[in-house]
Amino acid sequence: MRITEKAHAELDKILQRGDLAIDATLGNGYDTQFLAQKVGTSGHVFAFDIQKESIEQSTRFLGENKLENRVTFYLSCHSKIKQNLPIELAGKIKTVTFNLGYLPGGDKKIITKPDTTLSALKQAHLCLSDNGIISLISYRGHEGGRCEFEEIEKLIKQEHWPVQKTPGSEAPDSPVLFIIGKA
Ligand SMILES: C[S@@+](CC[C@H](N)C(=O)[O-])C[C@H]1O[C@@H](n2cnc3c(N)ncnc32)[C@H](O)[C@@H]1O
Repeated sequence: MRITEKAHAELDKILQRGDLAIDATLGNGYDTQFLAQKVGTSGHVFAFDIQKESIEQSTRFLGENKLENRVTFYLSCHSKIKQNLPIELAGKIKTVTFNLGYLPGGDKKIITKPDTTLSALKQAHLCLSDNGIISLISYRGHEGGRCEFEEIEKLIKQEHWPVQKTPGSEAPDSPVLFIIGKA
């Protein structure tokens, strides 16, 4: 099973119709598609990416799947979740997903960075509902990826967040899935 499928399997256990979700790294829109299907017409997904290309491609893709009405797109850094998300939704988000790194098929130099990732993670955790989870995939294989992974591990430890950590394989540079709980 691919690591993205492992993440979806975890989300599948908790997501219900009517839930609210955030995709902190929209990319090509596959995670948002999954979230939008799970939350149904009564739920909603808030999706962030810093690349116009990602917003345009995902708007098209979700439109083709008739899911665009369930999604609000933000051409914005995920470290600005707090500024963008309607204030009354804080504490009501069932899941926040992060799939770090670069846009597949896009510019590999535009990658997530430790500073903004950690800031976004802290804001994401504050947004979660009591039974909510963060799903985060961190890539250790590309330049800068290992440093970002280590910073994430440090933050989780420091904050005493409950976490389940699943490496993609036994290879030391395989991606890692973190499922982070609320309390
Ligand atoms: C691995 S891709 C995400 C894949 C995506 N979830 C999907 O299903 O296709 C990582 C994405 O993170 C975006 N990204 C990088 N830095 C970001 C930031 N600071 N805030 C929001 N998105 C960012 C990139 O532009 C890229 O599209």
